[in-house]
Amino acid sequence: MERIVEIDKVTFENEYETSLRPTTWEGYIGQEKIKKNLQVFIKASKKREEALDHVLFFGPPGLGKTTLAYIIANDMEANVKMTAAPMIEKSGDLAAILTNLEEGDVLFIDEIHRLSPAIEEILYPAMEDFRLDIIIGSGPAAQTIKIDLPRFTLIGATTRAGMISSPLRDRFGMHFRLQFYNQAELGEIIIRASKKLEKDCNKEASLEIAKRCRGTPRIALRLLKRIRDYADVEDEDSIAIERAKYGLNELGVNDLGFDELDLKFLEILITAKGRPMGLSTIAAALNEDEGTVEDVIEPYLLAKGFIERTARGRKATPKAYDIFRLSYPDHKGLFDG
Ligand code: ADE
Repeated sequence: MERIVEIDKVTFENEYETSLRPTTWEGYIGQEKIKKNLQVFIKASKKREEALDHVLFFGPPGLGKTTLAYIIANDMEANVKMTAAPMIEKSGDLAAILTNLEEGDVLFIDEIHRLSPAIEEILYPAMEDFRLDIIIGSGPAAQTIKIDLPRFTLIGATTRAGMISSPLRDRFGMHFRLQFYNQAELGEIIIRASKKLEKDCNKEASLEIAKRCRGTPRIALRLLKRIRDYADVEDEDSIAIERAKYGLNELGVNDLGFDELDLKFLEILITAKGRPMGLSTIAAALNEDEGTVEDVIEPYLLAKGFIERTARGRKATPKAYDIFRLSYPDHKGLFDG
């Protein structure tokens, strides 16, 4: 991956208009509260002819954090520079990014919780005072050179609310937590995307996909593209409910929207017979890293009430036992954290 991807206004309009990502507020479905607030704050900063204050997005992958960053930049008529924390290894990497910014630019840093403490230190004065402090030399002879930076907007995104340091979090003027989407919103996203893909999906089929995509637009769109493949092979000129159901079943998505990993996760918890299980044990049993379990698998199962987190670990809820037609262990409270 390139260290930084620059997207100026022209590229933005040419390339992103044609993709499935919405580029304007009108095209962006859901997250209504976030949208409404951001529109007010953008309007105010435009009125004052100032750069927008820094924005932090939290939330599981695939809910539209990057898309929102594009839309904000588009609304601010600003260029976007996109990078991810693992790409910024040395302080010089960040210094180069910051000194190349222009007045009003939007800098998007994905996975911002993964910045090293030394890099975070450089960001603080840059965010607060639009100043880059470069330390030359070491010990008593060390000197700090201060370089003025243009006023820019930093948009940070993280899947881990708890992993971002509080000094960094406090320097963002806006914090937004993205929510899982409801079925109606996802249905609308699917219908709009199917039009862009030139393979219309009818309402019933869109709602079926919407029910089975873990509340996540990125998954919905991935499923839609694969179902379109099945429809194309069968020479169908639109997607109807039968094709959607067939495709979803072939793709291993059950009718609660769980994929194989979700089901395996629940099975592992259920084999613990009501005892809480630690994250590392679950991750080892799933052959996945702990980050994937925490960021990708758990949030949806927690939001839907299939698992709970206690001080001593994760437990499956009665709702999870119901899926497997098993009765909930009745040693009530015995293992509660
Ligand atoms: N594509 C991905 N996320 C979307 C959203 N929230 N609204 C519309 N289209 C999308």
